[in-house]
Amino acid sequence: MKIYICQNYEEMSAHAADLIAGQIKEKPDSVLGLATGSSPIGLYKELVARNQKGEISFKNIKTVNLDEYCGLTADNDQSYAYFMNQNLFNHVDIDKANTNLPDGTNPDAAAECARYDALIESLGGIDIQLLGIGLNGHIGFNEPSDTISLGTNHVALTQSTFEANARFFASIDDVPRYAYSMGCGSILNAKKILLVANGKGKAEILEKSFFGPVTSQVPASLLRLVSDKVYIFADKEAGALLLENHPEEVIVL
Ligand code: F6R
Repeated sequence: MKIYICQNYEEMSAHAADLIAGQIKEKPDSVLGLATGSSPIGLYKELVARNQKGEISFKNIKTVNLDEYCGLTADNDQSYAYFMNQNLFNHVDIDKANTNLPDGTNPDAAAECARYDALIESLGGIDIQLLGIGLNGHIGFNEPSDTISLGTNHVALTQSTFEANARFFASIDDVPRYAYSMGCGSILNAKKILLVANGKGKAEILEKSFFGPVTSQVPASLLRLVSDKVYIFADKEAGALLLENHPEEVIVL
C-alpha cells in the first residue's frame, strides 16, 4: 500500500488524477470504477481539464460506478447518475452508452444486483477503482457489518451515513435510506485501487482503516488484503494522524 500525503486538496486531486490519466494513456479502453461524493470532485475537474487539453481521451473508456441511491431517477439532481454527468461525463469525450451505474429505480433488488455483477464481469473487471471513504470506514456503500458482501448488494444506509448525506438534500425526509452498492469483492478484484480522502473529519478513520485491525466493521481496512495494488492520497488534514503516528509508512508529496 502506498500512502501519499499531499499539501492540500488541489494537490491531492492532481496527484490522484495522474494515476487515472496514466491508466487511460496505458490502456485507452480501460474500465474505470468511479465514485461520487465530495472527495473526488477536484480529481474529476483535473481529468476534464486534461481531456479538454487533449492529453487524455475517454472515447473508448468504460465506467462502472460504485453505487446509486434507491428510488432516485437519473435526472434527480441528488442521484449519483446526475452527479457523474455534472462532474465528469458531460464535459469529456466519453460515449455515455459506456457509462454504468446501478439502476436505483429497479425495485427488484435481487435482479438489479445480479445485473450489475454480470455487467462488471462482462466488461472483464475493473482496471482502476476510485474510492472515497465514509466517516465510518465504508467504501462504496458497504457499511460496517459482521459480514462482507462480495457482490452488488442492496444496503440500508447506517444512521451515520444517512446524517452525513443529509447535507446534500433540501429536507431530511428526502434523504434515501437504501442504496445499491458494488460489493467489496468487486472492489478488491480491481487491478488497481485509488482512495482519496480530504479534511480533518477523515483523519481518525484513515488511521483506524490502515493501522487498526482488518475487519468488516471497518470496510476500508479490507483494502489491506490486497495492499500491493492500493494507492491512498490524503490531504494534510486527513493525513494528520498518519503522519504523526506512522511517519515511516507515508510519503509526503
Ligand atoms: C460514493 C461512495 C461513498 C463516498 C463516501 C465519502 O460513491 O461510494 O463511499 O466515497 O461516503 O463521501 P465524501 O467524499 O462526500 O466524504
